[in-house]
Amino acid sequence: MSAAVPFRPLRLGVNLDHVATLRQVRGTEYPDVLDAARLCLGAGAHGITVHLREDRRHIQDADVFRLKAELDAPLNLEMANAPGIVQVALQVRPAEVCLVPERRQELTTEGGLDVARQETALRPTIEALSDAGIEVSLFIEADARQLEAAARLGAPVVELHTGAYCDAAGEREAAAELKRLIEGARRAHALGLQVNAGHGLNTDNLPPVLRVPHLDTLNIGHSLVARSVFVGLDSAVREMLDAMALYEGGEP
Ligand code: PXP
Repeated sequence: MSAAVPFRPLRLGVNLDHVATLRQVRGTEYPDVLDAARLCLGAGAHGITVHLREDRRHIQDADVFRLKAELDAPLNLEMANAPGIVQVALQVRPAEVCLVPERRQELTTEGGLDVARQETALRPTIEALSDAGIEVSLFIEADARQLEAAARLGAPVVELHTGAYCDAAGEREAAAELKRLIEGARRAHALGLQVNAGHGLNTDNLPPVLRVPHLDTLNIGHSLVARSVFVGLDSAVREMLDAMALYEGGEP
């Protein structure tokens, strides 16, 4: 193995959308997203992520304002490039905004944002968010065309979509998707971009992802909330952090 490269331990952003899902399906006040966020941070998570969808199916505007006001940790707001949502982001001023594609009928975010085709629409949003002091991340497929467009747009961070790897039909497909993530991370790093990753990750499919170089943060939600049904949120987050601690960092 090559000489150790100094690196910051891999960070975990916990996505709490599905804590809100549980609340919204019954129109109750519980479970409280802020309490869940505090638990995750107490267990060692580095940040909290929520997706304010245009249909407000889980996270509500009030959740985002409350999390920003009450938490002493970075808040990452996932959102579509839609004028009403951009206005909310500019009011909340989270530490980070991750721009994602959004279709009303989808169960969850499908595929990465096609930044290569949407440069004109994305540029003013990225500028407005950046001018407000918000770090902008783009949720994209690990493809050269998308990465180069992200760099041209001046976004400092990309989040590589791990969904195709996680949903791969067999070992061959998973290996091909993993290779794509590794090459994408190398290219992103060479372009000066911070590399995050997420979507569909759990403690079973995570170990091979730890071969992807230059990773800064993983954003993980559904599997953690699902696991918390059995072991509680604190243990679910700790299990994930233990699995992530095997990460050995970047390449020279
Ligand atoms: N990152 C992004 C950009 C997402 O849209 C999502 C899903 O909201 C996640 C990470 C988390 O995905 P999962 O809930 O499958 O862990």
